[in-house]
Amino acid sequence: MATSTETAKSNWFIQFMSSSIGKKIVMSLTGIFLILFLTVHLIGNLQLLIPDGGKTFNEYAHFMGHNKLIQFVSIGNFFFILLHIVYGFMLTFSNQKARPVQYAYTPSTKKVSWSSKNMALLGTIILIFLVVHLQAFWAKSKFGGLDHVELMGGVQGHDLYKATQIAFKEWWIVVLYVISMVGLAFHLVHGFQSAFQSIGLNHRKYTPFIKALGFGYAIIVPLLYAIIPVYMYFN
Ligand code: HEM
Repeated sequence: MATSTETAKSNWFIQFMSSSIGKKIVMSLTGIFLILFLTVHLIGNLQLLIPDGGKTFNEYAHFMGHNKLIQFVSIGNFFFILLHIVYGFMLTFSNQKARPVQYAYTPSTKKVSWSSKNMALLGTIILIFLVVHLQAFWAKSKFGGLDHVELMGGVQGHDLYKATQIAFKEWWIVVLYVISMVGLAFHLVHGFQSAFQSIGLNHRKYTPFIKALGFGYAIIVPLLYAIIPVYMYFN
């Protein structure tokens, strides 16, 4: 049976997690993890552009799909994506409840960017993208539906390169990816710097640097992601 101290501790945790600041911290920590994931995933996917018939990419995908540590991180990744979505919606609804009528006038000293006002909409675009994306590649790789290819040392692996080639020959998939990457860019423009602000990294000296870094990241990373399907469509 739980002691009264244990109950008090778990109550404190539940209260913190449902408070406005608790929700913001969950959003920020999961967001920082997802930024790291996006960076690693991009480096992996850029190998699709190597003109070697997909050899390097398939080797890489095989390694990622069979390494125990990567598989463990991958479970964490899905958990953090889920937390980010659930807490994102919770934060949006509690903000709307707190302010059901939008201000008719926002003082010019407190400029609110378009991105920051539309994080839930932008997040929903990314969520729709993720459902299509995971169904096209991840689900096929995990539950079957991919051709096999011989890798280094005679090992049999999935031909994920061929799957991407087939997918990116469809114009509507390419358009969906490009539009989603525009959504991702706007989501990151606000999300990157806001993630660091919510965990208290707010400093006269460092905040302008974090904002500039975040802006650069928000443009370059989605742009490189978008280049991949466009390049594969035309080649
Ligand atoms: C050109 C763009 C992209 C390509 C070619 C691509 C390719 C892939 C492929 C081939 C897989 C399956 C890997 C496997 O199961 O072995 C995968 C998984 C995944 N992708 Fe992407 N991806 C792209 C963009 C994105 C973006 C922008 C996001 C997030 C917003 C994303 C999120 C994911 C996630 C969450 C997984 C599952 C990872 C895991 O198993 O932990 N991808 N992607």
